[in-house]
Amino acid sequence: MAGFLGEYYLWVKAVHLIAVIAFMAGMLYLPRLFVYHCDSEAGSQQSETFKVMERRLLRAIINPALIVATVLGLAMAADLDAWGEVWLQAKIAMFLALGAAHGKFSRWRRDFERDENRHTARFYRYMNEVPTLAMIAIVILVIVKPF
Ligand code: HEM
Repeated sequence: MAGFLGEYYLWVKAVHLIAVIAFMAGMLYLPRLFVYHCDSEAGSQQSETFKVMERRLLRAIINPALIVATVLGLAMAADLDAWGEVWLQAKIAMFLALGAAHGKFSRWRRDFERDENRHTARFYRYMNEVPTLAMIAIVILVIVKPF
């Protein structure tokens, strides 16, 4: 499989990065919406508007971007045959942490949709830091390749 992308490698990397930027923008914005949603009354016009924003952000931006970023990332890893590289193993481990956060955000969005949110605005402010820290680690790992 090594080298199968040939002259398209940089195009694949460019689209990988575009998808990563869309995915991260959504993952940083969704918990912020949860913070403000906590302060709006269940059933109010404001709460219903937050539900629409959260659903569209997750389904129309975060989920498709996650799929594209993952498929193209794995394609490049296969092209480089880099599975034995520690930087890539660590990057994929951090990506799995991002995936776990994505799962939790999807679950909390559903709770809000059912007016069954159980967490505070303060809790969602802390959760907002998880994708931030994972992103910082991933970018350093892939650009600097420290090990
Ligand atoms: C399954 C998930 C992922 C895999 C397998 C993966 C794999 C890769 C590979 C193999 C490269 C090419 C490295 C090179 O040419 O030197 C790359 C580039 C890159 N990836 Fe990912 N990636 C994934 C997810 C992500 C995520 C979530 C982010 C950011 C939060 C990210 C950020 C980047 C950046 C910034 C580059 C460009 C590096 C450069 O130009 O040197 N990737 N990725």
